[in-house]
Amino acid sequence: MNPLEEMRAAFNDLLKANPGLEERLQKMPLRVFSGRNHPSAGAQAVFLCYRLPGPDANGNWSLEAGSTKWFLYDLSRQSIEAEPQRIDQIIRSTPETPRRLVLPRETLAEIRQCLEIGWTGLGYKTVSFEEAWKNYTGLPHAHFVNSATAGLHLAVRLLKEARNWQDGDEIITTPLTFVSTNHVILYERMRPVFADVDEYLCLDPASVESRIGTRTRAVIFVGMGGNAGRLADIVDLCRRHGLALILDAAHMAGTRVNGHHVGTESDVAVFSFQAVKNLPTADSGMVCFQDADLDQAVRKWTWLGIDKDTFSRTHSKGSYKWHYDVVHDGFKYHGNSIMAAMGLVSLRYLEQDNAYRRQIAAWYDERLSEEERVSRVPVAPGCLSSRHLYQVLVDNRDEVILALNESKIYPGVHYRDNTLYRMYRYARGTCPNAMSAGGRIISLPVHLRLSYADVQRVCDAFLEIVRRRRTFAGGNDHAESDGPAH
Ligand SMILES: Cc1ncc(COP(=O)(O)O)c(C=O)c1O
Repeated sequence: MNPLEEMRAAFNDLLKANPGLEERLQKMPLRVFSGRNHPSAGAQAVFLCYRLPGPDANGNWSLEAGSTKWFLYDLSRQSIEAEPQRIDQIIRSTPETPRRLVLPRETLAEIRQCLEIGWTGLGYKTVSFEEAWKNYTGLPHAHFVNSATAGLHLAVRLLKEARNWQDGDEIITTPLTFVSTNHVILYERMRPVFADVDEYLCLDPASVESRIGTRTRAVIFVGMGGNAGRLADIVDLCRRHGLALILDAAHMAGTRVNGHHVGTESDVAVFSFQAVKNLPTADSGMVCFQDADLDQAVRKWTWLGIDKDTFSRTHSKGSYKWHYDVVHDGFKYHGNSIMAAMGLVSLRYLEQDNAYRRQIAAWYDERLSEEERVSRVPVAPGCLSSRHLYQVLVDNRDEVILALNESKIYPGVHYRDNTLYRMYRYARGTCPNAMSAGGRIISLPVHLRLSYADVQRVCDAFLEIVRRRRTFAGGNDHAESDGPAH
């Protein structure tokens, strides 16, 4: 046996000796095993395990109907640089991404456990999910809530109470966000003061600094699409000015900055697990305070001020289980075990899912960098983005979206400048970058059933529309006509 054959045999032995390993590997679409530890191989070989989907009896592609391929590369004969290209080729030739196809079965099994033990509410899976989330992110505290909006509201409420902020005090925020971010400031009778965004579509520290006044108490930073932007500068600025920092991390499940999951740099971070987020449930979120007392307090606020949850009372020993105190009013904001069951399964796949999102983004980058009329929103240095979104800016955005819709491609817009909405019009015109970006941004499709071929189809259609416009409009950015310019 040559060293590579020996290594293959050793790998097969490894699979045999570890029941369940193969099954676990099969759920991973791509896996590289270094042969470094095998004495006969030295550092010369890597294994690549890749699960290819295949057609079932009805002609539907599924992971179950597919097969596992094992590849073994001899690095002594092929240069290491050649490896990523080969791996890329394999992924590109796969007709469908496998990931989501195994999820329904696993999620149903997790939900089934709730139904079988008869516990679907607060407690049980919500506790497991909070623990799993803390393990995954390294954050010290996590409380599972029924939406990020609820979590953001309580972030403002509890900080307001703890730091004795007054009605009418100000929080600096971004106009380029989902309205939840800004509504929660109003829920607590405080005032949103809008600062402008930078090239990452996140708050620009210089603009934030220029908006600080005597009544400023906090900054809410939104990690747009998973991007961390200049978050470190905002952290620094908040420290210098004694402001609280609330991280709206609705898009940031899995985002790391310099290797660390985001959330520890802010006083509180709030994640969204709403249906279309990169860690989807149906509706839920996680509010993660740095401060242990605030974490304890928020658990009462999400459950109407009641000091013991029903699950703990049911599972505690002794009489007076029904005996609880109500320490103040509160909200019905807590999460439930069905959502947590979905979250637990989504969390298991989050790393792979985000890696695939980044792969899709790289495919878009590859094609769209060809066209100077398309500006791609960069990812900040040091940031490993969840890639919840892939955003580009084009002139004539609305026309481009309508034309894409005709090709059955449905991009999104994240977001319109909030000061264009009637209720925030008092700040209209104060954030020119957000205003301009809000009129030009498009989020191209990013999801886990998108294949390489789909991304090419989107790019073909998108580039064709952008280029057609240039030819027809004769370079006039404001031309509305679809016909040739005269
Ligand atoms: C930036 C941002 N903040 C907050 C939210 C609110 O999240 P949820 O729907 O979980 O309340 C969203 C959801 O779309 C969001 O995109």
